[in-house]
Amino acid sequence: MVVSEHPPLRIALLGCGTVGSEVVRLLHSQADDLTARIGVPLELAGIAVRRAGRTRDLPVPADIFTTDPAALVARDDIDLVIEVVGGIEPARTWITTALKLGKSVVTANKALLAEDGPALHEAAAAGGSDLYYEAAVAGAIPLVRPLRESMQGDRVTRVMGIVNGTTNFILSSMDSTGAGFADALDEATALGYAEADPTADVEGFDAAAKAAILASLAFHTRVNAADVHREGITEVTAADVASAREMGCTVKLLCIAERRRDPAGGDSIGVRVHPAMIPRSHPLAGVGDAFNAVFVEAEAAGQLMFYGRGAGGAPTASAVLGDLVAVARNRITGARAPGESSYAALRVRPMGETLTRYHVSLDVADRAGVLAAVASAFSEHGVSISTVRQEGHGADAMLVIVTHVATDAALSGTVEALRHMEIVRDVVSVMRVEGEPSR
Ligand code: NDP
Ligand code: HSE
Repeated sequence: MVVSEHPPLRIALLGCGTVGSEVVRLLHSQADDLTARIGVPLELAGIAVRRAGRTRDLPVPADIFTTDPAALVARDDIDLVIEVVGGIEPARTWITTALKLGKSVVTANKALLAEDGPALHEAAAAGGSDLYYEAAVAGAIPLVRPLRESMQGDRVTRVMGIVNGTTNFILSSMDSTGAGFADALDEATALGYAEADPTADVEGFDAAAKAAILASLAFHTRVNAADVHREGITEVTAADVASAREMGCTVKLLCIAERRRDPAGGDSIGVRVHPAMIPRSHPLAGVGDAFNAVFVEAEAAGQLMFYGRGAGGAPTASAVLGDLVAVARNRITGARAPGESSYAALRVRPMGETLTRYHVSLDVADRAGVLAAVASAFSEHGVSISTVRQEGHGADAMLVIVTHVATDAALSGTVEALRHMEIVRDVVSVMRVEGEPSR
């Protein structure tokens, strides 16, 4: 039903690249349905870009483009703002201004949310406006809203998954076709999956930002990007991928956020992003291309799995439009989005306290006593070995060791000790092994 007395809601779109151009197309192609769902029409009033004169082949007049996002946001006739430019500044200033002026904001900007989310929520509270950001995590997959709203009656214990499409595309290509890292990254960039600076993807910054957002929502605790232990995939070699394959595993860049009871009492959380080997039988192992998948475990709900396209213009625009409908409806009815929930303020554990398993490949001298010496380096650090495989090659041998669960500090101490042993020619690869039942 259309609320005839209400004027159209006018939108400022900041950014018209991979995501923004698909937002424009969806706003155009779904206009009638959006009007019916919201109750009033949406009107795209202005689009801010860097290069206004660029040919864009979009169903909008040329004079709608501006290179002055700040002026567009401040215009009296703008009701809602969509930010799909990215980066910290000037996006933070535009969004904060809009929220304080009472204009609700939809953003896909995970970097900014992970850096300064609480300040944005405060600006929304001050302006009586809404801040929605479903597209910031896992593209098209509804994950923010379930954590922010649907699961508010439960206690989340763990969030684990693949939240970066670009790195998943690269690792899947390396695993399935033997593609090289650089070629796979070029393809992911051409397909619109990578960030403006793909270092954010391959060094794990993008996944760490998403991990911070998910952990904040899941555990009602402020977690920013700096709280997240981060390792990217640039050190993952074809040999690591082959070694994983021999173990019946595959390599994935995982985001893991876990709540745990501390020995001294009270709960703490650990939040990390790093490559890990997971068994091929694990559901995450089959997640290929730029798809994302996230498991959420909660005390009452048990295990939930969210799966879908984690990157790309149209999938991300779907999440943006979903949020746009929500903020538009709120605007019409006077409702408000939930604000920030950080009451639990749990301690964020350092990585050294994380319980995990390691896969270690060592190039060692092939002579008597070597295995015993290597084994004692593990036992001196309190790390129990699960399996050992040895392959001889000339005077040397390759030892492949998989450990039982130990603290990350004990495991990295072991590896450090191995690096200093005369019989160890090289620590060829070290990778965590995940995918066991939660601990
Ligand atoms: P693009 O680089 O494709 O587009 C960025 C847009 O912002 C361009 O239209 C550009 O203008 C405009 N822009 C850049 N700087 C300015 C500026 N100073 N003033 C005005 N406009 C500016 O990025 P994406 O669309 O890929 O990503 C946008 C946001 O969405 C980012 O926060 C990203 O992290 C997030 N995101 C992206 C996903 C994806 O799959 N691509 C998925 C999920 C989230 P011009 O066109 O003139 O260059
Ligand atoms: N660069 C991001 C990715 C876009 O590859 O997942 C989606 O957030």
